Amino acid sequence: MISKPKGTYDVYGLEARRWVKIEEVIRKVCGLFNYQEIRTPIFESSEVFHRDQNDTSDMVTKETYDFKDRSDRSITLRPEGTAGVARAYIENKLYVENPVNKLFYIGQMFRYERPQKGRNRQFSQFGVEALGSNSPLIDVEVISLGATLIRSLGLKDVTVKINSLGDKESRDNYKKVLVEHFSKYKDDLCSDCLNRLEKNPLRILDCKVDRDKEFFKSAPKINNYLNEYSKNRFNEVLKELDQIDLKYVVDDNLVRGLDYYSHTVFELEVNIPEFGAQNVIGAGGRYDDLISDLGGPKTDGVGMAFGLERLLLASEYSGKALAKENAIHAYFIALGDNARCEAMKIMNVCRIGGLSCDMDYMGSGLKSQFKKADKNNARFTLILGDEELNEFKINVKDNLTDEQERISLYDCYPYMINKLNKASACASCHLKGDNDEKND
Ligand code: HAM
Repeated sequence: MISKPKGTYDVYGLEARRWVKIEEVIRKVCGLFNYQEIRTPIFESSEVFHRDQNDTSDMVTKETYDFKDRSDRSITLRPEGTAGVARAYIENKLYVENPVNKLFYIGQMFRYERPQKGRNRQFSQFGVEALGSNSPLIDVEVISLGATLIRSLGLKDVTVKINSLGDKESRDNYKKVLVEHFSKYKDDLCSDCLNRLEKNPLRILDCKVDRDKEFFKSAPKINNYLNEYSKNRFNEVLKELDQIDLKYVVDDNLVRGLDYYSHTVFELEVNIPEFGAQNVIGAGGRYDDLISDLGGPKTDGVGMAFGLERLLLASEYSGKALAKENAIHAYFIALGDNARCEAMKIMNVCRIGGLSCDMDYMGSGLKSQFKKADKNNARFTLILGDEELNEFKINVKDNLTDEQERISLYDCYPYMINKLNKASACASCHLKGDNDEKND
């Protein structure tokens, strides 16, 4: 048997319905904030992600899937969405038509990480990127969009952690004191942090290995090194979050795992013990140099991405039920070849009219077909044998009311529609008359 690659998974049954539903919720929320969808390739030229020799993030240095294609081009499976969106923004000159582009994406990402609950090698992100504005208000809008999504999914106990990495001048000043501080502990630093000490000391603060050590806790904090502009900007973001009553916690250890951030950075954490270290369901921040680093015009940007697997897991613990078991309008039980052909004809009419139908294609016996009708949660079971066929009739059972009637084959579709329309007034009905809602 061939197994799926480590860190990947298959989606089917009720789980597949939950995926469809969460994407629906996401699209609705993006509509509320007027973010437009963008779809970029799953693989990009490697330089989209491997831009900078000095990049010290784990994602770029250790986790990308890189390969040469048959024409010897360096290709990378996207580990995140932001860089690909930035590439598309530059290549398609999206800035020409709109000074500010508010974009969203849903798609698969790839990182060679150690798989565990909520951490996969192929995973899905929903992300937004707002390109072209430096306003603190748009940082707040992005965080607010994340909070709205969380509310729409009914997730409880989510904490928004926020910090500022300041502008380049602030970060350069901070990096100097970090180097001074950590240089005293060179012998105790893990090998990755030794490398980070030279290339990007800020990254040390994101280290999972050294995090619990004493010298780590005593490291200087960035908020003491923000220049006036960066401090004011951060305060404005916080003030606006207060204005819209969006609760947050300032976390001065928060630096984020990617090298492109400046000013606002944030993470959304769920408090679910089973999640362990994978409790960050969404995260993002401002990146004012990414577009120019990729060869585009100087463009400010801010964005955020959620891990969809983590959102779905979290919703199992504390959210709304996203999807119910499959349910259809009508299951046809046909006995004999002639009856099966006739059922096929009626199903065609019903489906064109918007009723979901199915039947048995295995030539199964009566009992087994009833079981299938049950398994599909059919609102109506329609039984057609030779006797009914001779009379041009069909037996219909309404599984909601247990009423059973023998009706003309011609009346099949109007009969069910009529019942469904009556039932749409009844809140307890599991399949309402409104066909659009049948797969809620
Ligand atoms: P990130 O923090 O690397 O940021 O990923 C965002 C979210 O993706 C995480 O909070 C987590 O929920 C999910 N995630 C990351 N890795 C995995 C994995 N291996 N398995 C399952 N879920 C995972 C970014 O990717 C940035 N591009 C976010 C951003 C957008 N910043 C600005 N704009």
